[in-house]
Amino acid sequence: MAGTKVEKKEEPEEAVKETTGADKELELDTLPGVGPATKQKLKDAGIETILDLATSGPMDIADAVDIDVSKAVELNNKARKKLVELNRLEPDFINAADLLVKRKAIDRISTGSKNLDDLLGGGIETWAMTEFYGEFGSGKSQVCHTLSVMVQAPKGEGGLDAGCIYVDTEGTFRPERIAEIAEARDMDTEKVLSRITVARAYNSAHQELIVKDLGRIIEPNKVKLVILDSAVAHYRAEFLGRGTLSERQQRLNRFMHQLLRTAEIYNIAVVVTNQVQAAPDSFFGDPTRPTGGHVVAHTSTYRIYLRKAAKNRIARMVDSPYHPERDAVFFLDDKGVDDPSEESIRKK
Ligand code: GTP
Ligand code: MG
Repeated sequence: MAGTKVEKKEEPEEAVKETTGADKELELDTLPGVGPATKQKLKDAGIETILDLATSGPMDIADAVDIDVSKAVELNNKARKKLVELNRLEPDFINAADLLVKRKAIDRISTGSKNLDDLLGGGIETWAMTEFYGEFGSGKSQVCHTLSVMVQAPKGEGGLDAGCIYVDTEGTFRPERIAEIAEARDMDTEKVLSRITVARAYNSAHQELIVKDLGRIIEPNKVKLVILDSAVAHYRAEFLGRGTLSERQQRLNRFMHQLLRTAEIYNIAVVVTNQVQAAPDSFFGDPTRPTGGHVVAHTSTYRIYLRKAAKNRIARMVDSPYHPERDAVFFLDDKGVDDPSEESIRKK
């Protein structure tokens, strides 16, 4: 075992010279029970820091270190405990008053439309996962493009002056569209483009790898928004037929939970899209339902259903813990997501 994998990795120069105090306290071997060999195995699996360890699922940790799941759960708990000590994560038990104070750290990102922001209570939230679902052409990718620009706007102008990671699973990300939206919103086009990190995911395994690697990009790039457009397309394409359904749901479940943990640990907004398809067995009910089914639905903090209505788009907040279930009308134009003009509303 030893010897084969201990070849020295060529570290990029800046990575070597930037070991700050904050990085040191997140080193894996500061955890009790993690020695050099375990540390190396975790690193080989892309789990570089205590943050990564806390966001990884026990199954992934078990695979990486070749230990059984109960030991992996223990390791994951140790990582979470350390993050609580470092004030980077909620303790398991917290009184409601403290929780209210903590929740003040939640920020919001404008969608670009006042109507849609109102529906969301001011924009999409950090520390949460928001799902936009709807049929093709309902505007899911346009919402994502607009959000990746809006997150960069200054605080007070709908943004968080922060970067974005855009995981594109369908090859529909368009930098030209980003440039158009930024320009229409009087933002510096070059700068906006440079603060969006794009990852093209070619299959579900690749998509999972990318998400495991997010931590490495989030902090140095001051990222406050991670987008997955679409979160489920690869799973749907790869796991066909009833026989593979449970494996698909398990993998998707693991994946969605990893995303949710990432949102909570880094206090970032995670946005996922999900295409709806006609469901033959619900012929008499809602003809459309999200592909990921209950897995995605249960993991998302907020769910918004998008549909076309003539030239406008209608968004509905579904199953939110505290938003009223109602509709908001928005419009797609050169600014991306925008509010419809007065006359188009009057015509309706
Ligand atoms: P799928 O990914 O196929 O499920 O669809 P989607 O929900 O992601 O749809 P998308 O966001 O791609 O919306 C497509 C619609 O957005 C088009 O039908 C257009 O109406 C509108 N749209 C797309 N690009 C532009 C653009 O550059 N300018 C304007 N004004 N509208 C656009
Ligand atoms: Mg799309």
